[in-house]
Amino acid sequence: MPALVLLGAQWGDEGKGKATDLLGGSVDYVVRYQGGNNAGHTVVVGDQKYALHLLPSGILSPGCTPVIGNGVVVDPAVLLSELSGLNERGVDTSKLLLSGNAHLITSYHTTIDKVSERFLGKRKIGTTGRGIGPTYADKINRVGIRVQDIFDESILRQKVEAALDFKNQVLAKLYNRRAIAVDEVVEELLGYADKLSGFVCDTTLVLNNAIDEGKVVLFEGGQGTLLDVDHGTYPFVTSSNPTAGGACTGSGVGPTKINRVIGILKAYTTRVGAGPFPTELFDEDGDKLRTIGGERGVTTGRDRRCGWFDAVIARYATRVNGLTDFFLTKLDVLTGWEQIPVCVAYEIDGKRVEELPYSQSDFHHAKPIYEMLPGWSEDISKAKTFAELPKNAQAYVKALEEMSGAPISAIGVGPGRDETIEINSFL
Ligand code: GDP
Ligand code: IMO
Ligand code: MG
Repeated sequence: MPALVLLGAQWGDEGKGKATDLLGGSVDYVVRYQGGNNAGHTVVVGDQKYALHLLPSGILSPGCTPVIGNGVVVDPAVLLSELSGLNERGVDTSKLLLSGNAHLITSYHTTIDKVSERFLGKRKIGTTGRGIGPTYADKINRVGIRVQDIFDESILRQKVEAALDFKNQVLAKLYNRRAIAVDEVVEELLGYADKLSGFVCDTTLVLNNAIDEGKVVLFEGGQGTLLDVDHGTYPFVTSSNPTAGGACTGSGVGPTKINRVIGILKAYTTRVGAGPFPTELFDEDGDKLRTIGGERGVTTGRDRRCGWFDAVIARYATRVNGLTDFFLTKLDVLTGWEQIPVCVAYEIDGKRVEELPYSQSDFHHAKPIYEMLPGWSEDISKAKTFAELPKNAQAYVKALEEMSGAPISAIGVGPGRDETIEINSFL
């Protein structure tokens, strides 16, 4: 099983960090392939809790080489501070590999992210303000700055000049902000060169060689399927491709080399930021999910919007990612409800719809059609096997599996590494 992808099947925060960390001990490489420090992945190891933003969660497993692929956008200051934070806690980060083709988030990208959100007013996306969108926009516009550029001052200067030429006009004339000095940016970026040079390499070569040698490579997605710029709830999305195809473009590994695609699926649904969310709850149940589930953003500290499980979305994630398995997380959070509503289809303009509508106005009108499943009250956090779960919890899992279109191969019953029920092995 040389290469597998692990990605979010909903709107992010499904528990990807925990799932990656769980597999990290058995894999040789863990690769981030898109996104940047908009991600917030929580990993709990014993009594230690780690919040990772840019580094792949595999960094916490000593035998595993963490890789930041070409598809990621890298804020160098954040990268260095995340590395030193881990070093202070005794984590060895020396094996990190960083693609020279990854694009850099600079101070002007974060500035533009924030001012453009303000400019959008009530139409804002609710971004994390980390400069993600503007950096990907520059990449596509061919005025981005790549990691490799900081090793050649003359190229760097030309590229920063080209990037700021237009942006400074926009900043000054449209947003009424001060123009950004080329020298300041160049100097800051050059300052990272020595600190980063030891990590930079041709990660596509390393990863393809590793797969050819039978090493196990795990691709860890940031965000989730419904935040994908192509397949998500556009424009309320992030600016990259968390879906499975992104693992190929964001790492330089071809689809023929990927054997398994695991969707991380929360037993209910959450979303941060603006955009449609059919099963969102505005009542006590929503508050209860938020409190019991600890649903507060790891990156921005915002409360997450909470709602019941949505099988239409899970089916869609199976389809657009070619999922082979699900890892169902946070089943323990649902303990204590007498009945648990699950959205099985939508009602749109009086019609029952089984699949995610491709029209955004239909999706905005979608009303969930719920089926009530019986709940359970027993503590499930110590369960180690499926058989140890209460009958109603087993039936809930089986029902979700049936509706979602791929086998549920693992179940999370708590945040810790060992609070997991493994049904089918991933490796
Ligand atoms: P990610 O962005 O997908 O990595 O997820 P986050 O770390 O943002 O949010 C998931 C939260 O749920 C974290 O606080 C995890 O520690 C926690 N978590 C993960 N799996 C489980 C689980 O099975 N049960 C419970 N109770 N918490 C979990
Ligand atoms: P992880 O990896 C949840 C959301 C933001 C906003 C939209 C665009 O922890 O699951 P951006 O800053 O990316 O341009 O914001 O995407 N968003 C996330 N929501 N989890 C994340 O990451 C997210 N990363 C971005 O809230 O709605
Ligand atoms: Mg998160």
